[in-house]
Amino acid sequence: MKFHIETLGCQMNEHDSEKMYHLLRISGFEPADIAADADIVIVNTCSIRKKAEEKFYSLMGRLRWMKEKKGTILGVTGCIAQMEKEAIQKRLPFIDFSLGPSNIHKIGQAIETASRHKRFFDFSENGCTSLSFIKPESAKAEIKAYTTIMKGCNNFCSYCIVPYVRGREASRHSADILDEVRSRASAGVKEVTLLGQNVNSYNKGQNDMTFPELLAAINGIEGIERIRFVTSHPKDLSAELIDCFGKLEKLCEQIHLPFQAGSDRILNLMNRKYTIEEYKEKVGRLRERCADIAITSDCIVGFPGEDDAAFEASMNLVSDIHFDGLFSFIYSPRKHTAASTLPGTVPRGAATERLKRLQEAQKAITLRKHKAMEGRVTEVLVEGPSKNSSEEVMGRTRTNKIVNFVGKQEMVGTLVNVEITRGYANSLKGELRGAEQG
Ligand code: SAH
Ligand code: SF4
Ligand code: F3S
Repeated sequence: MKFHIETLGCQMNEHDSEKMYHLLRISGFEPADIAADADIVIVNTCSIRKKAEEKFYSLMGRLRWMKEKKGTILGVTGCIAQMEKEAIQKRLPFIDFSLGPSNIHKIGQAIETASRHKRFFDFSENGCTSLSFIKPESAKAEIKAYTTIMKGCNNFCSYCIVPYVRGREASRHSADILDEVRSRASAGVKEVTLLGQNVNSYNKGQNDMTFPELLAAINGIEGIERIRFVTSHPKDLSAELIDCFGKLEKLCEQIHLPFQAGSDRILNLMNRKYTIEEYKEKVGRLRERCADIAITSDCIVGFPGEDDAAFEASMNLVSDIHFDGLFSFIYSPRKHTAASTLPGTVPRGAATERLKRLQEAQKAITLRKHKAMEGRVTEVLVEGPSKNSSEEVMGRTRTNKIVNFVGKQEMVGTLVNVEITRGYANSLKGELRGAEQG
C-alpha cells in the first residue's frame, strides 16, 4: 500500500511527519509523491491561526472527493486533531482516523484498524511517555536533521493555542538525544537542529544537563559540523546560553528570537514576561559575543488594544534592531486563549495596512544586510541542486542564508568557501573560492 503525508504548520509538525514517514516505511508501506497516487493519506495539521485551519478544511474537501472515488484511507493528525478531538467526526464524518501530536506513534495501528473499516481515535496527552519513541533514521542520505529535545509549552502567551494542543513542557533525556545525534552523524548528517517550542527551558528543574551543557556535548560529536536550535523565548535566554555563541565552534551564529510586539503594554497583555528594554539588552549581549550573529524574529500586528502608538513601537524596534529576517502575522483569535476575550479589536483593514508597512520595512533591511555581504568569503554547507539553474548548487551560510553558486553535485554535503557576489531579498549569489574544507 502507498501512503502520502501532507504537512501544514511548523518545523515541529514537519519533524513529526518525518517520524510517521519512517514508521510507515519500516512497516512496509511505500511512499507516494502525491495524494492522488496514495491508498492512505495523512494530513498533519496546524491550528496556530485561522488561515491554517481554513487551509486544512479546504484540503479535506478535495480529499473527500478522492476517498469517495477510490476508497482512500484518510487520517488527520497534529494540532487541529488534538484541539477538536472526537468532535472532528462531526465536521469530517468521512475520515478514518485521527491522532493528537502525542499519539503519532500509533499510526500503524490506526491504519490497520481503518483497513478493517473501523475508526481509530487517540488524543491522550501523555500518549508517548518517552520522547524517543521514534528515531527518524532515514534511508535517504541526509545532510541536515532535526532532533526533538523537548515538547509542549508552559508559557501560555495569551494569543497562543500551542499550550492547549501540545500540552505541558517535557524534556527528553540528554543521553537519548546524544544517542540519536551520534547515530545520525554516523549516517552522514552534518547539521543538526534541536527542536522545541521553547528550547531555552530544556530540563528546567530536572536533574539532567542544562541546555548549554547539551549544546557543548553535541559540539563534541564527531561528524556534526553545525548546530542550530529553535525556538527561543527571550525571557529564558540565559547568560550561559549567550556565552555558547562564539565559544562552541559548531554552534552557528544564528538565533530566532521572537519579540511579538514593540510596546511593553502589549507585551504585558500578551503575557510575554519581558520588556522591550530587556529584549534589546539581550540582543546587545548576543552581538557583543558574536558581532555577526543573524537574528530573526516573529511579530504579531493587530493584537487587541494595539493603537497607532503601540504599532509604531513595533516599527521602531524593527528599525532599531535590524533583524536578518522577520515573520509577521495578523493577530488571529484562537479558541480557549485568554486574548480571545480581550476588548480593543483592531479592524481588519488597519491590521492589514500595518502588516504591509512592517513587511516593507523589513524587506528593505534584509536586502540592505544581504548587499552588505557582497565581497565577503563565507563558509557554505552545500545542500543540493539550485532551483535557479542546473549548473548551480545551493547551500547555506552559518547564519542560515541561502547561497546559490556554480558548483558540482559532488560538493553536496561538504563545507566550501564562497565569495558573496550579489545580495538579493531572499538569497545570495556567490562564487566558489579556495579548497573544499570538509
Ligand atoms: N514557540 C514559538 C513559536 C510558536 S508559533 C515561540 O514561542 O516563539 C509561531 C509564531 O506564530 C509565534 O511566534 C507568533 O508570532 C505567531 N502566532 C502565534 N499565535 C498567533 C495568533 N493567535 N495570531 C497570530 N499569530 C500568532
Ligand atoms: Fe505559544 Fe508563547 Fe509557547 Fe511560543 S512560548 S508556543 S508563543 S505559548
Ligand atoms: Fe501549528 Fe501546532 Fe506547530 S499549532 S505552529 S503545528 S505546534
